[in-house]
Parts: sequence; structure tokens; C-alpha cells
Amino acid sequence: MRLRNIPRAEGVLQAHEKVIKEETGHRGNWAGVFGNDRPVYIEIGMGKGQFLTAMAKRFPDRNFIGIERYSSVLLRAVERLDRMEEPPENIRFICMDAAQISEVFGPGEVAGIYLNFSDPWPKKRHARRRLTSKEFFARYDAVLAAEGTVEFKTDNQELFTFSLEQADEAGWRVLARTRDLHRDPQMNQGNVMTEYEEKFSAKGNPICKLIAARHLPA
Ligand SMILES: C[S@@+](CC[C@H](N)C(=O)[O-])C[C@H]1O[C@@H](n2cnc3c(N)ncnc32)[C@H](O)[C@@H]1O
Repeated sequence: MRLRNIPRAEGVLQAHEKVIKEETGHRGNWAGVFGNDRPVYIEIGMGKGQFLTAMAKRFPDRNFIGIERYSSVLLRAVERLDRMEEPPENIRFICMDAAQISEVFGPGEVAGIYLNFSDPWPKKRHARRRLTSKEFFARYDAVLAAEGTVEFKTDNQELFTFSLEQADEAGWRVLARTRDLHRDPQMNQGNVMTEYEEKFSAKGNPICKLIAARHLPA
């Protein structure tokens, strides 16, 4: 997501009560941040927050943390929350590079990870930067609960194929997959559309989705 730099973004984020500052200080104690021990779900590369705010509304018994690298993009998510008549309580934001997540969450502290329309990094030499590379799966391994899943959506067929291969190489199991989510009644059930998903499906692009876990459910 490209957005021009917005100079006021840093200041607004610093002052906002839902934006976590010094995120490494809460490692192992996210229940303390939310004031309850409900499961914590994270979206990495949340963009302007459409998916995360909708999920937080839909699941009030869960906690949600959106991670976004760029302050100018995160600003839009914060502004979206502020515009809501009844903003959900169970949501927080962190401005950071997701490569550092094991410094922010302790082992097993994350119940589930959402990756939506992650940047494709098309050059082969940048493959390690893709959020579904095996290097990132190893980072997820360090923070995800035993039964936790990674859910990934994209309209990029090559990135989806890469992601399936990388999950396998990283020793994860793909529990479910589709290359046409909106025509797959089972996987599409309860689907919450992201901003990019709306944009690309309106153009006629089929949406791919996978759900990966480290273990098969018992
Ligand atoms: C293409 S946008 C998708 C936004 C949103 N998830 C959606 O589906 O509408 C990808 C977002 O991921 C963010 N991003 C990419 N790599 C990241 C990383 N390593 N850590 C945090 N955010 C990242 C980008 O800044 C961008 O805002």
C-alpha cells in the first residue's frame, strides 16, 4: 500500500490510546494491556484496518492487534476507528516491522495470525521479505499457540503457490485451501472482506485463501 508521507502521523499515533508504544514491554503480558485474558489475534500488514475493525466488532470475546509498518497507513486505520459511532474496545495497533514479532509476543501468546493481500515482493532476491516465506513461518512458530492458525488471502496466484510451498517446507500443514474463495461456500462462510479483497474481486480477480497450522487438529 503506497501512501504519501503524512507528517502529522507520528504525533497522532503517539497520542492515541489504542496505539501501543514500546511494544516490546508487553511481551508475555498482553492480557494486562487488554485487561482480560481473551485470546489475542493479530493481522500483519493491516493497511487501513477495514478487516481488523470488522473482526473486532464481530468477535467481542477476542482481542485484536493490527500490525502495520508505515505510520501514514496506520494513521488511516486509527482515523477509521475514531469515526466509528461505537468503536470496539478489543482492538490495538502497533507500528512496526513484523520481522520483530518474537520480541513483542511470547511463545504461544498469539491465538491466530491473519495475512491479507501481503506485498508480493516479486523479485526472487526479496523472497525472504514475503510474509509467507519460510523465514516468516519460523517467526510465527515462535509466537503462535499450539492450535493456532495462519490465514492468508491474496489474489496473486504466484504468491499463493509460493506460500503453499513455503508452508510445506517450513513443516506446516495446510488445513484448507482454495483458489476461488468467493465461489467456495465452505471456506467463504463468515468471510470478512479486506479493502484489497473488495478492490481486486471487483476487477474479477479470484481470491485465494489458505489456512495453515503446525499440527493437524486432534
Ligand atoms: C497490500 S497492503 C494490504 C492491506 C490490507 N491487509 C488489505 O488486505 O486491504 C499490505 C500492507 O502490509 C504492510 N506490510 C508489508 N510488510 C510488512 C511488514 N513486514 N510488517 C508490517 N507491515 C507490513 C504494508 O505497509 C501494507 O500496508
